[in-house]
Amino acid sequence: MSSNFQAPKGVNEYFPPRSETYLAARDAFAAAAVRAGYSYLELPVFEDTRLFARGVGESTDVVSKEMYTFDDRGGRSITLRPEFTVGVLRSVLQHGLHKGELPVKVWATGPAFRYERAQAGRYRQFYQVDLEAIGSEDPAVDVETIALAWDWYRDLGLTRLSLHLNSLGCRECRPVYRSALQEFLRGLDLDEATRARVEINPLRVLDDKRPEVRAQVEDAPLVMDYLCGACKAHHDKVRELLSDLSVPWVDDPRLVRGLDYYTRTTYEFDHPLLGAQSGVGGGGRYDGLSEDIGGPPLPGIGFGLGLDRTVLAMEAEEVAAAAASRVAVYGVPLGEEAQRKIFGLVAGLRRAGIAADMSYDGKKLKGAMRGADRSGAAYAVILGERDLAEGAAQVKDLATGDQVAVPLDRIAEVLKEKLG
Ligand code: HAM
Repeated sequence: MSSNFQAPKGVNEYFPPRSETYLAARDAFAAAAVRAGYSYLELPVFEDTRLFARGVGESTDVVSKEMYTFDDRGGRSITLRPEFTVGVLRSVLQHGLHKGELPVKVWATGPAFRYERAQAGRYRQFYQVDLEAIGSEDPAVDVETIALAWDWYRDLGLTRLSLHLNSLGCRECRPVYRSALQEFLRGLDLDEATRARVEINPLRVLDDKRPEVRAQVEDAPLVMDYLCGACKAHHDKVRELLSDLSVPWVDDPRLVRGLDYYTRTTYEFDHPLLGAQSGVGGGGRYDGLSEDIGGPPLPGIGFGLGLDRTVLAMEAEEVAAAAASRVAVYGVPLGEEAQRKIFGLVAGLRRAGIAADMSYDGKKLKGAMRGADRSGAAYAVILGERDLAEGAAQVKDLATGDQVAVPLDRIAEVLKEKLG
């Protein structure tokens, strides 16, 4: 019997053994970020609602339909973060990090919240690793971040990912493109909701998955043909440097993203085995976002990678970390006095850096040995009444079944030797 309660609908949670894969992926990311000079940020899970409304963009689905927004007890409107970027930028500006060395290179991780229709790979509480480089316009920084993500996926063992790359232009050239696209879209046979979207957020119409819309937008003007000289030069440099680092990509002139702040470089990582929710991660530049939230002009680039979909991809490619966390030694005390001795021994092993666990609740030999097997330990230390009287314990090799008696005061030393 379980309890009377279940987790709220659509949330994703991790428990053993899957939580090990999740943790391994997140830890590997932390190491990669630190190797590339990114510092860690720990941010609040909720922010002033207006930060997201202004930063993420009111015309996006995320802001208009998916935010977890409520008034707190002091009557302030609070929103659970639907993404990290805007909060990262808020924090960087608030604490003046942009007044030091640029770019400010930071990363963060944790849950994000979107009230979406829950399905495989799409959750209402999900997890990201997020990385941002703020205060540089250099295309090399774009590529540093993209390559970091690419190498992380590759080091996790994922081989089937593809990187889709586009540029969305800047404040100069995007409006010209937007008008041209709107003009084209207004001439199509679209339903009312889509026609409304043409007026508010025309780029999103290019992203419509319905075949009848897809067929009609086939000949739509493409942003690539409208990029200004500076944006085109930036994009060419990004492509050149990606080649230098041997990161393969697919040019995708129809790629648009679900958040409004993007400028210039935009990209997404897709995994072919994940069905409808194939976007495992994405990112891009947001050169106007700082000003949108009341800050100084400050370009930025970064990404958010979905840990949930990364774990699903690892499972689909059968590269998920095979086993739950394992201990090396498992203590099997038989009787109260033996329990006290083993308890001290196990604590001592842990202090000496050896992973150890033991059986509790006065379990009999059979039950306790089952625990030892399940723990994945290489050795069991069995202490019965007769052993106690002799001042020794049985050290059993759980792979071969071989067992030797070792004096109690030498056990830690012998185990250390055996575990090498
Ligand atoms: P995003 O594309 O909205 O970008 O989210 C990034 C990734 O988070 C997605 O590719 C996906 O793997 C995961 N994700 C998003 N929503 C869900 C969900 N409901 N369930 C499971 N996974 C989900 C951003 O969030 C931007 N802040 C990325 C960024 C950082 N751009 C610049 N800097």
